[in-house]
Amino acid sequence: MPLKGKKIILGISGGIAAYKIPLLVRLLKKNGAEVRVMTTPSALDFVTPVTLATLSQNPVATAFIKKEGGMWNNHVEWGNWADLILIAPATANTLSKMANGQADNFLLAVYMSAKCPVYIAPAMDLDMYAHPATLNNLKKLKSYGNKIIPAVNGELASGLTGPGRMEEPENLFEIIQKHFEKGSLSGKKVLVTAGPTYEAIDPVRFIGNHSSGKMGIAIAEEAAKLGADVHLVLGPTSLTPDNPAIKITRVTSAEEMFEAVTKEFPTADITVMSAAVADFTPQKKATHKIKKEGDTLELELTKTKDILYELGRQKKEDQILVGFAMETQNELENALKKLKKKNLDMIVLNSLNEKNAGFKHDTNKVTIIHKEGKIKKYPLKSKREVAEDLFYEILTHYDA
Ligand code: CTP
Repeated sequence: MPLKGKKIILGISGGIAAYKIPLLVRLLKKNGAEVRVMTTPSALDFVTPVTLATLSQNPVATAFIKKEGGMWNNHVEWGNWADLILIAPATANTLSKMANGQADNFLLAVYMSAKCPVYIAPAMDLDMYAHPATLNNLKKLKSYGNKIIPAVNGELASGLTGPGRMEEPENLFEIIQKHFEKGSLSGKKVLVTAGPTYEAIDPVRFIGNHSSGKMGIAIAEEAAKLGADVHLVLGPTSLTPDNPAIKITRVTSAEEMFEAVTKEFPTADITVMSAAVADFTPQKKATHKIKKEGDTLELELTKTKDILYELGRQKKEDQILVGFAMETQNELENALKKLKKKNLDMIVLNSLNEKNAGFKHDTNKVTIIHKEGKIKKYPLKSKREVAEDLFYEILTHYDA
């Protein structure tokens, strides 16, 4: 039962399709989900709290303040509680308020506090649904990462026929079930790189960096948890992922990483390049240990291939490419430059100036930048949590 124990909030706004939501509550409950229902004030013209409370086995929130005793419904607690929120039916008015950040009822405040995926099933008369204002609001809501369940064709309450009917409750149930079914990356191939690269000077010495691979390994683990088929190209580090399902190609140098990554990339749906690839490699690698003959030793270095740049060049439209940027100055500006130059969908900026973040630490403090310009700064978190945030951003912004 994929829905067992899942916490689902149904938000009902004031449209005639509200009468169908009790059936959805029943379906969800029968399949083991925990359900809370919230309504806008006008939804109560169409459906009663008693019906919804009885079926959901939870009190229904219809306003900020509970009538009896002056207690208040805590929208932040609701926003944190849910694994998924569905707003159905979503009227033109509620859509508009959601798109514009209005929070003048409890449902809207919960929506704005939500930490989970939000699905929206609009329902209204066909002309309202086709109005440019509604279309713009839906576009905006989609760009915020919400999932829109388009209204369907059919008979409308006005007597007209056309698109505007809320998707049937059985289908809404199926969409929710699918969301939780096998993990949201099921059937997808995720390619991750992690760790440093070592560039040999001679058989004993190398040029390397301080990367431990912890961040990339956490990303690979999270992708596997979400059901993806994960391929990890791992530079020299003593760490390995715990999950045996993750396929690993071990490499040492930037050149080897390039070979391994470009081999897997054409079939990858999502690629996250978190490895700290050496930018330069000794031009000549001595076959024998270099003896310390003089007082100085000159090494001539040549540039390695920029793997991510090459992937950005090869990237097809349905592939998602994520890079990392490690900066010490003009951080945002440099990260944005890399995002553009390397044709990325997203870049994760981590700064070496942050305490407990970056190389070797178990924690990291990142800023995620999307190609369309959205910038999200996060507090210091465990690398596992950063990996969760990363996939949350991918799954809510792109059709992965
Ligand atoms: N990268 C890569 N191949 C390289 C160097 C970097 O694929 N030869 C990738 C890294 O894995 C990372 C991104 O490019 O995802 C940015 O790496 P970073 O070292 O921050 O930037 P560089 O492009 O190397 O530029 P600079 O060192 O000048 O900041």
